[in-house]
Amino acid sequence: MKTKEKILQLLKDNSGTYLSGQDIADSIYVTRACVWKAIKSLQEEGYKIDAVTNRGYRLMQQLDVIDADVIGDGLKENGIDIPVFYFDEVGSTNDACQDFARKIGKSCLVIANTQTNGRGRRGRSFYSPQDTGLYFSLLIYPDQKLERITDFTAYAAVATATSIDNVVFGGTDTTKIKWVNDIFLHDKKVAGILAEAHTSLEDTDDTHVIIGIGINVFSPRNSFPKEIRQTAGSVISLGDGAENQNVRNRLVIQTISSLYKFYMGNGEQKCTCLDIYRKKSFLVGSYVKINNYTKESEYAFVTGISDDYKLQVRYDDEVTDELSSGEVSVVKY
Ligand code: BTN
Repeated sequence: MKTKEKILQLLKDNSGTYLSGQDIADSIYVTRACVWKAIKSLQEEGYKIDAVTNRGYRLMQQLDVIDADVIGDGLKENGIDIPVFYFDEVGSTNDACQDFARKIGKSCLVIANTQTNGRGRRGRSFYSPQDTGLYFSLLIYPDQKLERITDFTAYAAVATATSIDNVVFGGTDTTKIKWVNDIFLHDKKVAGILAEAHTSLEDTDDTHVIIGIGINVFSPRNSFPKEIRQTAGSVISLGDGAENQNVRNRLVIQTISSLYKFYMGNGEQKCTCLDIYRKKSFLVGSYVKINNYTKESEYAFVTGISDDYKLQVRYDDEVTDELSSGEVSVVKY
């Protein structure tokens, strides 16, 4: 354990009480200067540590902190050794990944505590307030010539939904997936996915995929903006005590680990992903309105999800179809 981690553990064990710099230094056999340096670094990472002359240091009640070291170590334990970059604030983690693609040209993970230009599908914005949400993007270089982007989206949807089930609901199957890639909890959207493929015309080997995931982990302090207040929800309500349990770090580790498992795995793992996707898809069996954007909306009954994650529908005139993209909403009678 690094000095910083030892100090953090001490402060957590004595949460709410002051520990003097000397006591901390004595108990982990380092100098007071070393303690001071580590505390500064923890504060820079976002830990709210109160420092009072003649009393010492105290870890204040705070929201769950994102820690790139913890996430990097957790991923390594699952066999994933990639650089992890953390930003307290960034425009969009998908855009930051694209910059890293240009600069380092290898897989990496970018995580942010807030985004000033969070992007959603179809040019929409993604509300990304600080401290309460989780915004992360994975940059990967697929070996096979571009697996379908819809496959990556589905891997990410299943990985995100099952991580929420595991980390927050003790493994109980609670989340639902709304085709194509929205994660729902109790009829509210709690997470979204934006997967983007980039191919260079000059260098066809430089094909990479960026999978961005946004999760509303805790309820935002000032509630959701009015445009999404009816439809958006969060995974955990603030004040239920879950915010100090390392939730956001664990969500990232579990989501990225299972995403890798589906993507790198054999046919069996890919089948498991499809099975879970089907089981969690709440549109199947519903009558839906299909928003076509270019032409008039259509209505159809959803009969299933195909092996390549298309939405299987039957129109009123009994004609059947498989949709590969688009947006649908359930029609309530
Ligand atoms: C959607 O619901 O339309 C997709 C939302 C995707 C949001 C995530 S947050 C991390 C990554 N960075 C972005 O700018 N967007 C994705």
